[in-house]
Amino acid sequence: MKRWTNLALFVLLGLAFTTGWVAFFYSTAPSRASLIVHAVSGYAIVALTPWKAVIATHGIQRRRPGWWASLVFTALVITSVLAGILHSTGLLLGIGSFSAMEIHVAAALAAIPFVAWHVIARRIPMRAVDLSRRSLLRAGTLAAGAGLTYGAGEVAVRLLSLPGSTRRLTGSYEYGSLQPSQLPVTQWLFDSVPSIDPATWRLAVRTANAVREWTYAELLAFDDRVQATLDCTGGFYSTQDWSGVWLSELLTPHPNPPPQGGREMSIYVRSLTGYDRRFAIEEAGRLLIATRLGGMPLDPGHGFPVRIVAPDRRGYWWVKWVTAIRIDTLPSWWQLPFPVQ
Ligand code: HEM
Ligand code: HEM
Repeated sequence: MKRWTNLALFVLLGLAFTTGWVAFFYSTAPSRASLIVHAVSGYAIVALTPWKAVIATHGIQRRRPGWWASLVFTALVITSVLAGILHSTGLLLGIGSFSAMEIHVAAALAAIPFVAWHVIARRIPMRAVDLSRRSLLRAGTLAAGAGLTYGAGEVAVRLLSLPGSTRRLTGSYEYGSLQPSQLPVTQWLFDSVPSIDPATWRLAVRTANAVREWTYAELLAFDDRVQATLDCTGGFYSTQDWSGVWLSELLTPHPNPPPQGGREMSIYVRSLTGYDRRFAIEEAGRLLIATRLGGMPLDPGHGFPVRIVAPDRRGYWWVKWVTAIRIDTLPSWWQLPFPVQ
């Protein structure tokens, strides 16, 4: 059982980690599907506590080198699981200026080096027995038990009308919808709000054979509108009225066929801060270059002078303070799945 428990924990940690990121990638149904597997793996980790506690107590008594690192690792896993449950039930959505979801993900990220060290320093040799009928049966029982716990948790959240019953399929909570002043200002990791002079700012739109520089006044003259939901990976979502211009309208058709070098595949969008994202070319008609939020010019925190509004995409695609857009021959998947800045 000892070896099986460690192996199961290894698989479950990997599964929880992967499904968490898959959920962050989507704003629609696949996010929920992934989160069900995610929550079930999280509860399965918790369910293994009694067995792991025996292993850990024995290990701690042996005082093997680095045993304290295993305790730090344990603390990070407990923090992540607790913050996840507090977020999902809505019992505590933030501590100080951090949301429960941010703490949840940060603790999981911080645990990565420890988990890598732990499985190397305390490695268990794989044996054929790990795939025995008994092991599989145990795995089935664990999955069923964790699945039932997740189901019971979701029912309880609704019966008790906890805040968690109002969350969206991505797990996010509604915040300040249709009240532009309530829309929180958040950045992915390390970006900070730049101050931009609209008189000198230009949006350079580069296609295969032309570059067109748009001024702020020119862009303000457009009034394409969309109501869209910004679903932040920090754990909130907000539906707002945005206006500006659909990107497709800024892409003048080619007077000549594009030069050799290949087909246009993607739209590269870059912020003044260097933050960037790449979209499939087919999305040009569904990406709004927004100049206004709720009928008023954007404020600096929300991307002044212009930002991308990408309906049905998570917040980290909504590039702010855009200065350059380039139509590119690179495929849209030619980027890290998540930004690193
Ligand atoms: C939720 C995940 C896990 C937690 C919180 C955890 C925690 C701990 C703690 C606190 C110890 C005792 C201190 C030490 O010996 O360093 C320990 C020991 C150990 N862990 Fe883990 N661990 C986890 C996952 C794993 C995984 C995935 C493996 C292997 C693939 C593993 C294998 C071991 C082994 C072999 C020992 C040594 C037991 C002994 O010396 O008797 N653990 N673990
Ligand atoms: C050590 C790794 C992790 C463990 C053990 C874990 C476990 C959990 C648990 C137990 C919950 C509560 C589920 C519920 O009650 O419905 C949860 C929620 C959540 N986790 Fe994780 N998690 C981990 C890492 C991550 C990562 C890396 C991400 C994202 C990149 C993530 C994203 C989420 C999201 C979005 C929710 C909210 C789900 C909802 O409210 O429906 N998790 N997690």
